[in-house]
This record gives sequence, structure tokens and C-alpha cells, in this order.
Amino acid sequence: MVVHGRASPWTSQSKIPAEMEERDTSPEADTAAAGLADEKDCRESRWQVPEHTVKAYDEWADRYELDVNSSNYSGAISACKAIADYYPLSKRNDVKILDVGAGTGMIGSYLKKNYFKNIDALDPSRKMLDKLREKKIYGTIWNDYIGFYQTHIPDGYYDCAVTSGAFTDDHIPVSSVCELVRIVKSGGVICTVIREENLTNSLEYCKLEPTFQDLEKGGKIEKVSRRVFSGYWFRSKGVCYMHKVL
Ligand SMILES: C[S@@+](CC[C@H](N)C(=O)[O-])C[C@H]1O[C@@H](n2cnc3c(N)ncnc32)[C@H](O)[C@@H]1O
Repeated sequence: MVVHGRASPWTSQSKIPAEMEERDTSPEADTAAAGLADEKDCRESRWQVPEHTVKAYDEWADRYELDVNSSNYSGAISACKAIADYYPLSKRNDVKILDVGAGTGMIGSYLKKNYFKNIDALDPSRKMLDKLREKKIYGTIWNDYIGFYQTHIPDGYYDCAVTSGAFTDDHIPVSSVCELVRIVKSGGVICTVIREENLTNSLEYCKLEPTFQDLEKGGKIEKVSRRVFSGYWFRSKGVCYMHKVL
């Protein structure tokens, strides 16, 4: 993995990358970053970049969907349903979506069946992305982490960011919410799906709702919906949030 332990500098970088496709983010490239982002709004993660997690996904990639499908995982389809409920059919052609922690692209498969056409992916696991690429659904593929430093994605680049299954310990930290707000344009939406029990039994994810509330109070986002559903993963419930970026 090219990206190494750059814990939370949140450096700002507004220039658009020359080469978007299959971009690896090297520490050297990041030194071009200038100035500090608005750190007040971001809850810093104490985690280090979870390279061990990525290694585990690299090893799991070939069997991931088989295993997940036998667990009745419904996070990806719930995320897709929330996005399809939000965007009428007439708008779906134009919505530019980023699937964050996209893995093998399960969300993309559902989005495609619902007539969304413009879908990019971000994930640090090369092997998961190899599987995702086989689906031929996604456009730009960012081989990167989110939540530890500012990505190279330009401000307001997407209409919609979606994540499911990746807000769990040693994956995507809560600090990523600020990065999602940065890369989604004003008027766009963020769809976040998480296992409900993570909101209370994880030291990291008990900060998720307070972070949403701070951003709401700060006029950065507005809550559209919060839906609890059963069968997220085996018997666990899931929560699907939709927030509009202001
Ligand atoms: C359980 S899988 C979920 C994949 C897909 N979203 C789904 O619903 O099937 C979690 C994914 O999160 C990715 N991931 C872990 N840490 C991440 C981070 N900091 N930033 C982005 N993705 C991350 C992993 O590589 C893995 O592919």
C-alpha cells in the first residue's frame, strides 16, 4: 500500500489532479498540500491508517461477496434504496456518485439496476478494487483511504457520497464525515449506513451522531432522514442516514 500513517493533518489542497483514474496517493504528493483545513469542524481520529484492515480485505476479496451474501447483509441495498428514493428517475442519469469504502462494488451493482450511471469508487484495498473493476460499472477509481488526511478529490466534486459497511472499527473514522462534506457539492447528499450497535458499543462511532449534530448546528449539513432497518448483518439492525450538504 502506498499510503502510510499520515494521521489527520487535514491539509488543504484545492488543485484538481491531472490524472484522476486509478490514483495512488503518495506521501510525497501530499507534501504539495498547502495551509490547514478548518480543523474545528473535524473530530480528529486517533486511529492510524489501518493497513492491517486493508491486508485482510486483500486476502478476503475473492470470497467477500460469497460470504457476505450468506450473511444476509442488506447495507448496500438499503443505501441504494435511500438514494433511489431521493432522486427521481428523471435525474438519475446526471447524479455523480462516489461509493466510499466501495469494496467489490456491491452498492454500484444495485445503483446500476436503479438507472444511476455516473458512479466512482474509493477504497484502499487493491484486491477488492480488482473485483469491483470486473463489474465494469464504475468510472474513476480512487485507490485511497478516507478520514486520515485530505484526499485529492476536489471540493464539491460529487452530487452524492454513499458508504455502507465501512463505518466500523479500524475502517473509516468519523473524521471522514468532514471530508465527505468537503467533496460533496452544496445541495448534494451524503448517505451513511452503519450497524446500529456500533453507535453505542464503539468508542469511535459513538461520536458519529454528535458529529452530524455539530455540522447541522454549524450550518454545514441538514438531516434528510434517519431510518433504522432490520437485517443489516445477520440479526443486527442498521441505520441509514441521509444528509443534505448546505
Ligand atoms: C465491509 S467492506 C464494505 C464494502 C462495500 N461498501 C459493501 O457494502 O459491500 C469495507 C470496505 O471498506 C474499506 N475501507 C477500510 N478502511 C477504509 C478507509 N479508511 N477508507 C476507505 N475505505 C476503507 C475496505 O477496504 C473494504 O473494502
